[in-house]
This record gives sequence, C-alpha cells and structure tokens, in this order.
Amino acid sequence: MRKKIVAGNWKMNKTTDEAMALVSEVVDKVNAEVTGDVTVVLCPPAVYLATARQAIPSGGSIALGAQNCHEKASGAYTGEISAPMLQSIGVDYVILGHSERREYFGETNAQLAAKVNIALENGLTPIFCCGESRDLRENGDYIGFVKNQITESLFHLSAESFAKVVIAYEPIWAIGTGLTASAAQAQDMHFELRQHIASQYGDSIAQDISILYGGSANAQNAAELFAQTDVDGGLIGGASLKAPDFITVIKAAQ
Ligand code: 13P
Repeated sequence: MRKKIVAGNWKMNKTTDEAMALVSEVVDKVNAEVTGDVTVVLCPPAVYLATARQAIPSGGSIALGAQNCHEKASGAYTGEISAPMLQSIGVDYVILGHSERREYFGETNAQLAAKVNIALENGLTPIFCCGESRDLRENGDYIGFVKNQITESLFHLSAESFAKVVIAYEPIWAIGTGLTASAAQAQDMHFELRQHIASQYGDSIAQDISILYGGSANAQNAAELFAQTDVDGGLIGGASLKAPDFITVIKAAQ
C-alpha cells in the first residue's frame, strides 16, 4: 500500500525555543485537525532531534526525521552524525541526497548509495532526494539525469530493501524560489520515475513506493500537486516552518 507522507525539512532554521514551540504546535494541530491517513515527518536540525523525540508521541502519525547522516557507522569524522546515533535516539527517517547537500557539500551518487545502505541497516527510512537543475530542465535530458540518480544510489538494493525507501523529487529550480513545478510537470516526472523503478523491481514495488514532491510546495498549491496520481505527498521547506501553513499542506494530502 502506497503511503501518503508529508515531511517538513526545516533546514538550518530555528533556535531551540522556536523549534520546540513549532514541534508542539504541529503535534497539537495534527491531533486535533488531521483525521486522514497521512504520515507526518518532522525533520528539525540534528541538535533538536533528541528533545523533539520527547515531544512527539510514539506510535502515532507523526514521525521524526534527520536531515542527513554520515556513510560510516562511527570513527574520526569530526562534526558528523551517524545512522546508529540517530537510531539510538529514536529517529525514524533520514533525508539523504538533498540538492543542497549535493551542491554545497559535494555529495555524490556513490556516496549516497553508502548512506542509503547504512540508514537501512540501522532501521532508518531514507527519504532519497533527486532532481535536476534549471539548465538541465531547459537544455538537457533531465528525465534521464534524475533516473540516473536513482539508478546509481538505489538500484544496488535488494527488492526488499528498496521497498523501504521513500523518494522525493525536488527540481532544484523550484527549491526556495517560489517557482513550483506545475502539477503536470510533477506528475510527468513521478510517472517516469515509477516506470523506471518498475523496470528494475517490477510493477508491484513501483506501485507501492511513495514518491514525494518538493520545491516551493505550500498551503496554496499543495492540494493540486497531491491530487496527481503519482504524487504521494511532499517534502516541504519554507512552508513547514509555520504550523498553520504546514497543517494546511498535511490536510491536502489526506
Ligand atoms: P522549499 O519548500 O522551501 O522550496 O524547499 C523545498 C525543499 O528543499 C525541501 O527539502
């Protein structure tokens, strides 16, 4: 069964008081207002994960996610955070391969394959991000490029492991720009990615995997995006930083 998921990627925002206020506001509003079957994933900065874990009821519809993890389990990697550490404080999901990490921190498809492996080995659900630049969208084989990101970072997985992954299509030109992909553009890419997955793992796994859209998704446009057949929710940046907006987006996925 394909899951509806709305994840909030807070990126590098919020001080501790602001972060905890946002967590409790989202928890309260989800409990009071969200009745449908949608999984909400809160991805605050790593420094708040342990405190956020205490504030999020376990076993409910809200899960906790990290924004990254290292590809090694432990060792001399100053400043880094490992998948076993995240697991040990009760984190459920981890965003991997966000375009900001690829661009500013040089993360490669091969490195992301290793991160996906260690996340899965430690019981974390990877939210694997993929997406093309504006230049590629306008001048190149952007569908082939995104398919290749998935091939190189995910297609080494067994079918059983692959089925645990969540994919987030985030066109770089739509991130933080206010330039959302149209619902048709999102649907076209999600359809292509599902076909690509089917060619490797078969129809049943391809139909069951959740593919989220990210890139200037907000309270105004989420309903139309999420209404597309192959769009199973969203990975939300800016609009996840204000509880009322984020709740509207979550409701759009119900
Ligand atoms: P915005 O929603 O701010 O465009 O960010 C999207 C994103 O990068 C989520 O990971």
